[in-house]
Amino acid sequence: MKNDIQKILLSKEEITSICQKLGHQIEEDYKDKKPVLVGLLKGCMPFMSDLFKCINSYVYLDYMSVSSYEGTSSTGVIKINKDVSTDITGKDVIVIDDIIDTGHTLKYITKYFLDKGARSVKTCCLLDKPEGRKVEISADYVGHVIPNEFVVGYGLDYDGLYRNLDFIGVLKPEVYSK
Ligand code: IMP
Ligand code: MG
Repeated sequence: MKNDIQKILLSKEEITSICQKLGHQIEEDYKDKKPVLVGLLKGCMPFMSDLFKCINSYVYLDYMSVSSYEGTSSTGVIKINKDVSTDITGKDVIVIDDIIDTGHTLKYITKYFLDKGARSVKTCCLLDKPEGRKVEISADYVGHVIPNEFVVGYGLDYDGLYRNLDFIGVLKPEVYSK
């Protein structure tokens, strides 16, 4: 699997320090609140798990499964495959995802929770690909800004694979033509 990687964009150590930084920031910002962290499956999995251990205050945890992506380009159509089980009314929600690219997903989910009566909705992504943006939105917490390249690892997949890499990398071009 590692032989398919052309270059490493973020090492395991860099990801660890990003999680610590974001965790402390969230802890500070939500001092007197008990936010609900909502991870977007499946990509949020490693990030959410490392990030929420870096927040040393009260948080609730929930997950949602959404899809919008096929192959290497976003369709812009968001489908909710699994909803949260928490009653979101009056809650402070922080949506956690692996990456913000076109922005379709986070824009849709933010509105979805506000319509459900959340008191506030913020977004947190490990990666931000600003050049990919198609709708106007920026994540409130961003770990690292990357160029417009398709990346895999640490939750991010190419056709379902590579999520279990403990770093973020770029695939060799020949992998796509297989
Ligand atoms: P958006 O709706 O275009 O912002 O897309 C967000 C979702 O697209 C993420 O949760 C990822 O699942 C997927 N995605 C965007 N860019 C990449 C990438 O470079 N590699 C893998 N998945 C990506
Ligand atoms: Mg995703």
